[in-house]
Amino acid sequence: MDSEKNPTPPAGSASDGEKATDASPAPVSPATQQNVDELLDAARGEVKPRPASASARTPVTPSAKEASANTRAEAAPTGDAPGKETPATTPAAARAAPDTGASKTTSTPTPSINKGVSEGVAAKVPATTAKPAAATAKSAVAKPPAGAVVTAPVADGDEAIFKMRRRIIWASVAGFLAASFLMFLRFFLPRSITEPSNVVRLGFPGDYNFGVDTKWQQQYRIWVVKNSERLFVISAICTHLGCTPDWKESENKFKCPCHGSGYDSEGINFEGPAPRPMDRAFVELDAEGQIVTDKGRLFQWPKGGKNGFNDDGSFIRIA
Ligand code: FES
Repeated sequence: MDSEKNPTPPAGSASDGEKATDASPAPVSPATQQNVDELLDAARGEVKPRPASASARTPVTPSAKEASANTRAEAAPTGDAPGKETPATTPAAARAAPDTGASKTTSTPTPSINKGVSEGVAAKVPATTAKPAAATAKSAVAKPPAGAVVTAPVADGDEAIFKMRRRIIWASVAGFLAASFLMFLRFFLPRSITEPSNVVRLGFPGDYNFGVDTKWQQQYRIWVVKNSERLFVISAICTHLGCTPDWKESENKFKCPCHGSGYDSEGINFEGPAPRPMDRAFVELDAEGQIVTDKGRLFQWPKGGKNGFNDDGSFIRIA
């Protein structure tokens, strides 16, 4: 097949050429040499553009020649013939060795080759393009100043959650401090127990019959006693140890359930351990004529002492 496509005359074939070399080497024209090179390249699997002519080639500067030579030295396989030139316009893919295996070899780039490649690449890259890239890389990886706290960007939803958490925490702290301050102020205020007033209104004297009235015993712990001359109020507290005696109407006396002390209808002790008569509360009539008593003001008749049941305020005279 190659012989059919090869435009070289039969006199230029390999076998004939060897015979001719032995005898006398025939001169080879440049066109024939070029065809032979193309056939060899095709046999190696390399496809190279055919140069128009030696005179039509583009003039190459010395620097480009050096870069091209270094590039060929890096990419060309070691099986290539020494001194073979590859056009500078040949693509890198076309210059790469084919993966056919027969003449494939690997070469290790030397420092001089690497230098040539770097210089060639640097010569091809415009300076105006390299500088902005370097500046962009510097700005992209600019390091923060020492000691600065680098925080990751936070989404809007997370920021709203963080704000709400901060508000809740500060509200809790403020509430705790306010409660503590109020408790501190309360420490300086006196504690008082509110009790019902000792001054009470008991109605009109005409509302009571002669004898002992027990309707205020449970509410005010007092009895209202009315006779033909006086109306007075007895404090329902046993003078022995403070129990509340019971009124025994059938027996016409007060009987203490604790230790058996007995008092007559006017609260004068006559039996049991009670040391003295039951006390009487202050009583008077107000402007409306109602009975007003003050349980905080008591009249006593101590044993062997002065009888205070005749003092002013200890009774209301009944006309
Ligand atoms: Fe009333 Fe002792 S308390 S007799």
